[in-house]
Amino acid sequence: MALAEGRALNRDRVDAIGAREEAAYRARTPHSARLHERARQALPMGVASSFQTYEPYPLFMTDARGSRIWDADGNEYIDFDMAFGVLAAGHSHPVLADALQRRVANGTCYTFPVQDGVELAEELKLRFGMDLVRFSNSGTEATMDAIRVARGFTGRERIVKFEGGYHGHHDDLLVSIQPPRDAMGPVEQPTTVAASAGIPASRVAETIVAPFNQPDLLEAILEAHRGEIAAIITEPVQFNIGVVPPQPGFLERLRELATAHGAVLIFDEVKTGAVLAYGGATEHFGVQPDLVCLAKSIGGGIPIGAFGGRAEVMRVIEEAPQPDAGVGVEHSTLPAGANRVAHLGTFNGNPLSMLAGLVTLTQILTRDAYPQLHRLADRLTAGCQAVIDEFELPAYAINVGPKGCVMFTPARVTNYRDFIGVDADLWQASFFFMTNRGILLPPGPDDQWTLSVAHTEAEIDRHVATFREFAAEVVG
Ligand SMILES: Cc1ncc(COP(=O)(O)O)c(C=O)c1O
Repeated sequence: MALAEGRALNRDRVDAIGAREEAAYRARTPHSARLHERARQALPMGVASSFQTYEPYPLFMTDARGSRIWDADGNEYIDFDMAFGVLAAGHSHPVLADALQRRVANGTCYTFPVQDGVELAEELKLRFGMDLVRFSNSGTEATMDAIRVARGFTGRERIVKFEGGYHGHHDDLLVSIQPPRDAMGPVEQPTTVAASAGIPASRVAETIVAPFNQPDLLEAILEAHRGEIAAIITEPVQFNIGVVPPQPGFLERLRELATAHGAVLIFDEVKTGAVLAYGGATEHFGVQPDLVCLAKSIGGGIPIGAFGGRAEVMRVIEEAPQPDAGVGVEHSTLPAGANRVAHLGTFNGNPLSMLAGLVTLTQILTRDAYPQLHRLADRLTAGCQAVIDEFELPAYAINVGPKGCVMFTPARVTNYRDFIGVDADLWQASFFFMTNRGILLPPGPDDQWTLSVAHTEAEIDRHVATFREFAAEVVG
């Protein structure tokens, strides 16, 4: 049995393994190195999204099918990253690929509505307990639009987010993602820290930050801002600092507090929706928010976003809320006849995305897909935990449904401040070690593996065996 805190590692050994594996990575992937060098002449950091790069350079990919992906040097990997969790349906599932081929030959953008969009909206309503849905093109757009709808509905401006949560790259929410320790303020009243230059201070001032899994502190923060909060947005599981599940009762208390304060509760299910369960985290945890945001997995690999929820909230898109709506939310600050909330977008509901979503949800990620995804994930976590116990690594393995990771810290992480203790050097050594042996994981300790309908038991076992090789070498 492992010591609770794991053994003290020989740091020189960890560093030596990291350096050796990074050198091996460079030797195996010269084509990616050359492409990255060329890309840097055309794209800042050589990538299209700053999340896509890492030191010394990212792999450039050429092909992918099912659970496998190939880089520009022809190296094959079992993909456990799955495009930051987009691909619970696997890469280019044959049913989806076939349907999309027919769609591509028949027009991919009309800016007129299509029947597939109606059917996809109906499917989402069913799965997530929503009354009304709107489509967008990304998770960022979904959370941005949900916030505007919440503000329009309540007539309030401030929003609450949790420290360590990521909800996309718009100004209101690109704050306190992973703030530096010396800037984050006291846990009772975290400072709102912009995560990028270019975000106006006026936007930062509208977003209040609370610590995840601390309901009493949240209650005090809401009390200090009584009558001001339009929305509370949360990832039901914090999946942008590894895997941090809600503690028992936390989401229920959040629900009660949002209702008590007349704030719209938004679940950001961009990572959890259609991955954790048929009805996402909303079904998995049995707590119904007012609005749900979706993206990533619901499109099976084609860009898409969606948000939706309670009719009375979503109706602000088609009609101005009435001052006496009587829904427990104060509308008194809204002038009579205030404008409806604008929700717009050229590519919203485009035929390619709508078909991709419909086929993914109704033919691939059907209700009967989930038990096997959960079984495989539990096997991977149990396998990695057995390795950790055997070698007394200062780490633990964790998953919620088909998403999980090894957290390279001995103590359970319950919020962002605990996550700061993660051993980044150990993670980095493991990342290159696994990559060089054909096990592709997300390029950061803050992300996690995602399993798909294409993964097999044999692939899970190879992942565990490779991790065991790594652990054995680390402890010597
Ligand atoms: C929880 C969550 N919300 C929103 C987003 C933003 O989604 P997108 O990158 O599609 O804009 C992400 C992206 O990783 C996410 O993890």
